[in-house]
Amino acid sequence: MNGSPAAYFSAVQVTTGWDRVLQSFARFCRVQAGWRVLDVGCGPGGLARHLAALGCVPIGLDRDMQMAVLAAHSNRAKLPCLRGDAQRLPFTAERYDLVTATNVIFLMDHPQEGLAQMARVARRGGRRAMLNPSEHLSTDSAAALADERGLTGIERTSLLRWARAAEERQRFSETQIRRMLELAGCQVIETGTRMGPGFARLTLAERTR
Ligand SMILES: C[S@@+](CC[C@H](N)C(=O)[O-])C[C@H]1O[C@@H](n2cnc3c(N)ncnc32)[C@H](O)[C@@H]1O
Repeated sequence: MNGSPAAYFSAVQVTTGWDRVLQSFARFCRVQAGWRVLDVGCGPGGLARHLAALGCVPIGLDRDMQMAVLAAHSNRAKLPCLRGDAQRLPFTAERYDLVTATNVIFLMDHPQEGLAQMARVARRGGRRAMLNPSEHLSTDSAAALADERGLTGIERTSLLRWARAAEERQRFSETQIRRMLELAGCQVIETGTRMGPGFARLTLAERTR
């Protein structure tokens, strides 16, 4: 691992349980075969790979060029992936059936703008799905779970690093997520927590206007 974010997230996807979380998230999205899906902040492409396996036609976008290159090569079917900023999506309106973002919105300085952009490029009646840290994730609760499960190495450090980032950036309760999506013209279909005591908040919403 050369220490770049791309190398780090590739290692996380390969060596921890994160890939299983992404696989379960892909099922949570309740996709239909043939759906055009945009995965914003795609990282090394794990989610897009699972969505392709469910019959979707995914494209990835990431502001980190190295991530975009890794994602493009992480899939035998050659995942199209481009470099771009979630807050200025380079697509025309209503282009996608589903727009996903796992562990991305919570990192944004202006999450509401990011959500509005993602709603804009989803077709009316199309879906938005995201995963973010929930209000249950903290360095203390993550350390307790890591101890309980005997996690070591990157499994432990990646969980603690995620918890630190969540404390520094944002964690989302159900009320916050519902309010933000409503403001972005979307209606929540389902939101709930997963991972240990509920560290990850998964949300599926429909674009209504
Ligand atoms: C924590 S990683 C998550 C990667 C992947 N979605 C996953 O769940 O494994 C966050 C990713 O979002 C990207 N990112 C963060 N802010 C972004 C923005 N404003 N526009 C596009 N990509 C962004 C980062 O480069 C990084 O690849």
